[in-house]
Amino acid sequence: MNIATANLEDNAMVHLTYDTGLQQRLPCIFLRDNDQNELHPDTKERIFDLTKADIDVTPVSLRADNDTLYIRWPDRDQDAVYDAKWLSCQGSLNDPAIVPKQTWDASFADKITEFDAGCVEEKSTLLSMLTQLKQDGIVLITGLEDNETAGLGFGKHISFMRDSNFGLTFEVISKANPNNLAYTAIDLPLHTDLPNQELVPGYQFFHCYRNEATGGESTYCDGFKVAEDLRDQDPEAFELLTTVAQPFRFFDDGADVRYARPVIELDADGDIAQIAFNGHLAQTPALEGNALKAYYRAYQSLMRRLRSDEYVIEFKLQPQTMIVVDNRRVLHGRVAFDPSTGYRHLQGYYIDHAEIDSRIRVLAR
Ligand code: OGA
Ligand code: ZN
Repeated sequence: MNIATANLEDNAMVHLTYDTGLQQRLPCIFLRDNDQNELHPDTKERIFDLTKADIDVTPVSLRADNDTLYIRWPDRDQDAVYDAKWLSCQGSLNDPAIVPKQTWDASFADKITEFDAGCVEEKSTLLSMLTQLKQDGIVLITGLEDNETAGLGFGKHISFMRDSNFGLTFEVISKANPNNLAYTAIDLPLHTDLPNQELVPGYQFFHCYRNEATGGESTYCDGFKVAEDLRDQDPEAFELLTTVAQPFRFFDDGADVRYARPVIELDADGDIAQIAFNGHLAQTPALEGNALKAYYRAYQSLMRRLRSDEYVIEFKLQPQTMIVVDNRRVLHGRVAFDPSTGYRHLQGYYIDHAEIDSRIRVLAR
């Protein structure tokens, strides 16, 4: 793309027209701040000090030549050079890690996309897998090797893991003296993990090593879909769940980790940004009387939907597979199992959203 005209206007503004018809007005101070000569030559990070610049700075000279804009600033003895393509996309979010979400209900049960574990070895298949994960909030990995560390090996191809008080990886086995309901054999209603953390873990990776006991089926539900429907069907409940800070707490002998956040978090545009729901870790919000009762009604309205056949999918994870879910969107749970009937062992770990996004951008280069 080429720059057709470049003119200085009032108010220290550069008006550009491109041969595509695109028009753009860019403040001179923005162009001064983005002079490529003011980037560190190795790291390409900005070293220009904006506090020293005149907010009304204007060029000594300005000229466009095909796909390049040249500007001479008063305090510099060489032209600043701007690439037309770079200029034209400023202010627009040109990011391969932005993947529109497609929400789903129970009919999605047989539509979860499956990827062979070998997908991490190839740039294009890894990019497809991560993009699908961002779109659906869930993917199933098949064909892992039959050993306890196969799930870990898979994740190491993607990024580093997110640590927590449960360790970098956690072994979900029914054990004596559990510090968490996951380490028992009872049922775990749908939840997201660790909403009691300041930053909720982004993606949960769950490698199924053995699942031989009776019971122990896994359940999943798209929290964004439930929240969207709640917004339509019970706006009062939606309002409370997006505004009241719900405290969550995990504690044992070595830790006491607490955070309060709305169960449904909205972004600046009012779109659903995050679901944090965990009945085991929920504490009482800072309300009383009728306000607390109204909140309970709202919370129950959401919780009943989370039990509904309309939204929940259920299946038994098979050995040598791994389920990956967006832990800030998709809730997971399990049906009770009987440890006397067979061995059950899942291994979990987390990778945060920012790491997955970074990997997508590098793969898409
Ligand atoms: C967990 C969990 C599910 C299962 O460990 O956080 O939800 O299937 N486990 O055991
Ligand atoms: Zn869990």
